[in-house]
Amino acid sequence: MKNIIIAIDGPAGSGKSTIAKLIAKKHSLTYLDTGAMYRMVAFFSLENNVDLNDELSVKKMMEEIRLDINNEQFMVNNKDVSKEIRTPEITRIVSKIASIKQIRENLVQLQREIAKGKNSILDGRDIGTVVFPNADLKIFLIASPEERAKRRMKDYEMKGINEESYEEVLSALKHRDHIDMTREESPLKKAENSIEIDSSNLSIVEICDEISKYILKLGE
Ligand code: CDP
Repeated sequence: MKNIIIAIDGPAGSGKSTIAKLIAKKHSLTYLDTGAMYRMVAFFSLENNVDLNDELSVKKMMEEIRLDINNEQFMVNNKDVSKEIRTPEITRIVSKIASIKQIRENLVQLQREIAKGKNSILDGRDIGTVVFPNADLKIFLIASPEERAKRRMKDYEMKGINEESYEEVLSALKHRDHIDMTREESPLKKAENSIEIDSSNLSIVEICDEISKYILKLGE
C-alpha cells in the first residue's frame, strides 16, 4: 500500500504541533515539525551574524548548516538547540527567514526527503499547497488571534519565559501572520481540498477525534 501523507497548515499558535504530535502517536505516523526547521535556520543565522539581505551569504549558510531531527530533539551542526529555537528572540526573526526563497527551496527538499517512504504527518504553512500538494488529507487549523496569543502565553509560562506581555505576544503574532500570508514565496493560505477546523472553541481531544475520523476513512 502507498504511504499516507497528512498535512496540517495554519497560522501561528493555532495548535498544529500539539495536534500533529497526538495524531502521530495515535495512528503510528512519523511527525515532522517544519516550523522548527525554519527556527533552526533562524538560530544559525543569528549565531553566525549572517547578512540575510545578501544572497551569497545565505547560499553559504545553507551549504554550511546541517539539520538533524530526532523526535523532539533538534540539532544544528551537532548542537542541541531544542530549547533555544522556541524563544521570543527566534520567534521574532523566523518569518523573515521563512520569506527567503533560497532557504525555502532547501528546506522543502529536505522535508520531502524526510517524509518519503513513511506514513507521515507534517505541520507548517505550505505543506498542503507546496510541499505535498497531493497529500492524502489536508487540515487547515485556525483560531482567533486572541485565543492563539493566550495559548502562546501559557506555553511561555510553562517554559519559564516571561519576556513579553500578552499585548506584545498578540501584536508579534499578528505581525508574523501578516508576513506569512503576504510573502511572495509560498504564502500561508488554505489549500484546495483542505478541511478547515476552527480550534477556538474546541478541546484538543475534540480536534483529534475529528481529524481521526478523516484518517480512518482513508483506509476504507
Ligand atoms: O509554532 P508556531 O505556530 O509559532 O510557528 P512554527 O510552526 O514554529 O513556524 C515558525 C515560522 O516558520 C512561521 O511563522 C513561518 O514564518 C515559518 N514557516 C513556514 O514559512 N513554512 C512552514 N512550513 C513552517 C513554518
